[in-house]
Amino acid sequence: MAKRFGEKPVFADVSFRLARGEAVALVGANGTGKSTLLRCLMGLIPASSGSVHLLGQQTNAATGRQLRALRAQVGLVSQKHNLVPRLSVLSNVVHGLLGKHPGLRHWSHSLAPHASRVAAMSALERVGLADFANRRADRLSGGQSQRVAIARAIVGTPSVLFADEPCASLDPSAGEDVMELFFRLVRDEGVSVVFTSHNIEHALRYGDRVLGLAQGRLRLDATAVSLSAADLRGLYD
Ligand SMILES: Nc1ncnc2c1ncn2[C@@H]1O[C@H](COP(=O)(O)OP(=O)(O)OP(=O)(O)O)[C@@H](O)[C@H]1O
Ligand SMILES: [Mg+2]
Repeated sequence: MAKRFGEKPVFADVSFRLARGEAVALVGANGTGKSTLLRCLMGLIPASSGSVHLLGQQTNAATGRQLRALRAQVGLVSQKHNLVPRLSVLSNVVHGLLGKHPGLRHWSHSLAPHASRVAAMSALERVGLADFANRRADRLSGGQSQRVAIARAIVGTPSVLFADEPCASLDPSAGEDVMELFFRLVRDEGVSVVFTSHNIEHALRYGDRVLGLAQGRLRLDATAVSLSAADLRGLYD
């Protein structure tokens, strides 16, 4: 698969498989195209050539309706949590069900069907924030916000999760907690994950496999146990 923006190539010849239940760490210097690759994988932007198969669907040949159905099975956590500040924590988690249930009823927890509120509360319990359900999202710490974003990503019981630098905006200790929590949930549910990180230790510890982008190519595709921190640092030279 290759991606260009206009004339400008981002990467080419990128090819890999994500096994069920596997966690893949995607690493590489700033601007090598990690976020772009995630967006191509999720079907948010089209690949320029080649194809992406996600959960049995070829995303670049899918209709809008097929893509929406696909996105309902996919969760996303990004560096900036993108919570809606003035809404409650619970409403923000209910938003994670908008892929499955598009429409106004899943915009606010007070309009949401009972089952959706229950699912959102249970997701909040799993990230340890049940007591914060009614708090406004803009009254949370960075670490709490990121945990709410994780709850929002898992509330729809996705088969695949994409996480783009899920702890980059956090201090080291909060970042560690968020990674621990995220991967505990992922392992419990047998979800497949692709995550990006600039933290080499995280890539090796939480990834089963590490993919490395450099010079517009996939320069690394190896199991985490076969790699050392020095191997990964080599990508940044
Ligand atoms: N919508 C866009 N239009 C044009 N160019 C873009 C667009 N999005 C990204 N790019 C370019 O594509 C390249 C890859 O960007 P991308 O954000 O994927 O890198 P990254 O590996 O995620 O970097 P970082 O580590 O800083 O997050 C960059 O040169 C960027 O400027
Ligand atoms: Mg990025």
